[in-house]
Amino acid sequence: MDLKEYLQQEEFVVKCECGISLMNAKLQIINAELGMRFGRKVLHSMSSRIKSYESIAGKLKRKGLPENLLSVRDHINDVVGIRAVCTYTDDLYQVAELLCSQKDMRLLKRKDYIKKPKKSGYRSLHLIFQIPISFQKEVYWIKIEVQLRTAAMDYWAGLDYQLQYKKENREAKNIGRELKEYANLIQQIDTKVLELRKWIEAI
Ligand code: GTP
Ligand code: MG
Repeated sequence: MDLKEYLQQEEFVVKCECGISLMNAKLQIINAELGMRFGRKVLHSMSSRIKSYESIAGKLKRKGLPENLLSVRDHINDVVGIRAVCTYTDDLYQVAELLCSQKDMRLLKRKDYIKKPKKSGYRSLHLIFQIPISFQKEVYWIKIEVQLRTAAMDYWAGLDYQLQYKKENREAKNIGRELKEYANLIQQIDTKVLELRKWIEAI
C-alpha cells in the first residue's frame, strides 16, 4: 500500500481521531483544575487537525526523506496536532507542566520557541507526546504535537502564515523583517498584560 492510501484509510484516520479525543480530554481536565485553582479561565481555545497527505509528502521532500510509512513514523512529529491558546504566558507553562507530569503518556520532545524564538519571530511551546490508545483489542501509540501559545502569539502566527506566500516575492526580506518586528511588539504586549494581571492580583 502506498503512503497516500495508508494515510487515507479509515482505520488510520480513526486512530488519529482517538488520539485527539484523549489529548483534548486531558487538556479539558487541566483547564478545569487550573480554573478552580486560579479562578480564571486558563485555556481559551483548542483546535486540532490531522496533517494531509499533501503536506506530509511536501515535508518529507523538504527533509530529503523517502515517501514511505517508516519516514513518517520516525521523522514527522506533527501528523496529529493540537493547538491550545491561553491568555497569559505563565498559564501556558502551568498547562505544560501538568501535561508533562502525566504518567499515562510519554513526552518525546520539548521545543521552547518562547524562550528561544525562531528566526522568523515565531513563538510557541511545542510538546511532542506519544499517547496509547486501545483500539480493536490492541494498544497503539499515537504521536501528537501540542502547540501551546498565548492569544497574541496565535495572532502573530496566523498573520505570518497568511502572509507566507507573499514572502516568496522580491520584497520577501523586508516583509520578513517587518513581521519579525511585530513579533517583538507582541512579545512586549504579552509581558505587559502579565504584569498588569499580577498588579491587579496584588491589590
Ligand atoms: P520543520 O517543519 O521541518 O522545521 O520541522 P518541525 O516539524 O520539527 O518544525 P518546527 O518545530 O519548526 O515547527 C512545527 C510547526 O510549528 C509548524 O508546522 C507550524 O505550525 C509552526 N511553526 C514553526 N515555525 C513557524 C513560523 O515561522 N511561522 C508560523 N506561522 N508557524 C511556525
Ligand atoms: Mg517548521
